[in-house]
Amino acid sequence: MRIEDPNVLAALPALPVERQEHVSLAELTYLGIGGTTDLLRIGKHESIPALLELLDRQAIPHKFIGGGSNLLVIDGELPFVVLQLAKAENEVVIEGNFAHVDAAADLGRMVTYCAKNDLGGMEGLIGVPGTVGGALRMNAGAYGTQIGSYVREVKVYRAKERQIETLHGDQISFEYRHTSFAPDDMMLAVKLELPSKTYPEILKGIRLCNEKRRASQPLGQKSAGCIFKNPPGGSAGRMIDELGLKGFYVGDARVSDRHANFFVNAGQAAAVDMLALISNVRERVNRAYGVSLENEVVVWNA
Ligand code: EPU
Repeated sequence: MRIEDPNVLAALPALPVERQEHVSLAELTYLGIGGTTDLLRIGKHESIPALLELLDRQAIPHKFIGGGSNLLVIDGELPFVVLQLAKAENEVVIEGNFAHVDAAADLGRMVTYCAKNDLGGMEGLIGVPGTVGGALRMNAGAYGTQIGSYVREVKVYRAKERQIETLHGDQISFEYRHTSFAPDDMMLAVKLELPSKTYPEILKGIRLCNEKRRASQPLGQKSAGCIFKNPPGGSAGRMIDELGLKGFYVGDARVSDRHANFFVNAGQAAAVDMLALISNVRERVNRAYGVSLENEVVVWNA
């Protein structure tokens, strides 16, 4: 979608919001799939209410992207513009056992930075790609660690109230790959409370998780991580594997040979191929196990 309205275009620089035209979402997502649209990079959290009011007034649909690591976007000219926070200058500020982190910060870099300041707890998250904001929104987790356990405050743009608020940790519920944030809330910053540990001790944990991940996940390939959430008490990857579906494909969308809950873009996969693979596998699992797998990947199809 192209923003053509002269009033909107004239208002953006002062906010400040930088507009990039005809950006390919294939380049902004780890799956490497997705069509084109205008990208609006937000330079200052405080300008978000005014920006959204401007877009809403002109009926310009919009979606908010974090790191693009858990996202499947349809192809072609997209019927919405995409908003993204620009990188902040001091994205992590440590104060005792607290880390104040900008939502646009890279999750892995944040974990490493905290580790170097003798703050641990998040070793399991080290290989999880994406931004801190994205991890917060869906309560990212791995190897027994979930980011939600460490959250004390979140600065968020609440779409319904049209304002920026700071929520205390106990006002937010963090569950398995799910939080109580509304879908159009925007994560802006977080205050984490982390246990003190020595850097070498944290590094040991980080290395262990990295090894486990390297041994079981297709790290070098284009994917959105796990496609499905695990059903209660079960494992989506194991079920898909047991059905002999590793290597199963639609076009260039393929079930990974290494981990059956990772679907990879093995070349020039189209979004429809990936969506067809997802629904085909879901149906087979449902038929065999009577379990309806829920997407973990976020799909932007309208
Ligand atoms: N398994 C198979 N075949 C496979 C994949 C897995 O038999 O192809 C078996 C494994 O041998 C193991 C069980 O299934 O016994 C569970 O597998 P794994 O330890 O790889 O964990 P997972 O449940 O598949 C979850 C998260 C991952 C996270 C890992 C490590 C979900 C949906 N996935 O995977 O998170 O990295 O644990 O903690 O919760 C993600 O969220 O995108 C993601 C990759």
